[in-house]
Amino acid sequence: MTTDQMQKEIEKTFAEKFGGEGSVYASAGRINLIGEHTDYNGGFVFPGAIDKVIMADIRPNGTDKVRVYSMDIKEYVEFGLNEEDAPKESWARYIFGICREIIKRGGTVKGFDAVFAGNVPLGAGLSSSAALESCFAFALNDLFNGNKIDKFELAKIGQSTEHNYCGVNCGIMDQFASVFGKEGNLMRLDCRSLEYEYFPFKPEDYRLVLVDSRVKHELADSPYNKRRESCERVAKRLGVETLRDATMDELNKVKGDISAEDYMRAKYVIEEKDRVLAVCDALNAGDYETVGKKMYETHEGLSKDYEVSCEELDYLNDLAKEMGVTGSRIMGGGFGGCTINLLPNGLHDRFVETVTEKFKDKYGHEPKVYDVVISDGARLVKEGPKA
Ligand code: GLA
Repeated sequence: MTTDQMQKEIEKTFAEKFGGEGSVYASAGRINLIGEHTDYNGGFVFPGAIDKVIMADIRPNGTDKVRVYSMDIKEYVEFGLNEEDAPKESWARYIFGICREIIKRGGTVKGFDAVFAGNVPLGAGLSSSAALESCFAFALNDLFNGNKIDKFELAKIGQSTEHNYCGVNCGIMDQFASVFGKEGNLMRLDCRSLEYEYFPFKPEDYRLVLVDSRVKHELADSPYNKRRESCERVAKRLGVETLRDATMDELNKVKGDISAEDYMRAKYVIEEKDRVLAVCDALNAGDYETVGKKMYETHEGLSKDYEVSCEELDYLNDLAKEMGVTGSRIMGGGFGGCTINLLPNGLHDRFVETVTEKFKDKYGHEPKVYDVVISDGARLVKEGPKA
């Protein structure tokens, strides 16, 4: 469904469920060119928002209750705004978490009615959850706080929601990308200083394509948090705040004192930090071959050292390499989801056809392929009537 069609459906459903209309907000899923599992290690990331969004029609209802309908899950949930009112439905906990995190920071949230839907594929590593969080954080800032909460705080509200209400100790990348995304631009974020820079990304001869294996990942209680713990253990052993401040020489010196697993995790992170910087230089020089080479190296590290890939994604990576794709790697948290591929325009159609056919032959289902369109992040789509 296109975003415009989705908006019409959401507005229609809002009128049916609650009567009248509210204000419509959206926020985006994201890609990440390079810099994976570096955010919670104080390193660099290179994301951009995409043209797939979560969109919500929202209106204050004058009560102390939130009433929300999820069109995709076809579920209606009501909850209050106190800590003990947490809903059990996992999708509603994201929205509840946003409300609570705003209130905890001294902001205002009152009761509201909402209908939302999305076209960010779930579990594909495109951060549908950050899109949901950012959409509501942006909306509640506008509706109840006169937009006084700054954009970084909105991203942190989303991140704290993941930590405190959804069981994922994620970094800041996804929420940052979803809130700050800008059409045609990737962003390099230094996750230690939170300085960022927009990088126009409009290569003439190349394009980005996502191949979603449709193998689902689940990050809660998960290996994701374990990866983070490994990194924190090594940082502590090295006496640095995060692995951003560690070098391979330093890591090698403590190799005998840490587990083989922790060593591999830290090695990947330290190497990835340098790869992001190399990619920035290469992009500035218009050298997409080097960008691609670094992407393959990242895949190798994520698969062999960080161990967040899976058979299907390794297969997609091998296929890409075989076909002369410039760069390819698993994207996002891992354990399923999609690969991001940088390829010459001329290879696009053949690549899509071949990957679809071969993957289906091997795994019995077709992957989903998306051409990346780098778009805006959180925004007001339509202002509702003034009360
Ligand atoms: C998930 C997390 C992010 C980041 C990536 C891996 O998307 O939410 O914070 O750690 O994984 O780069």
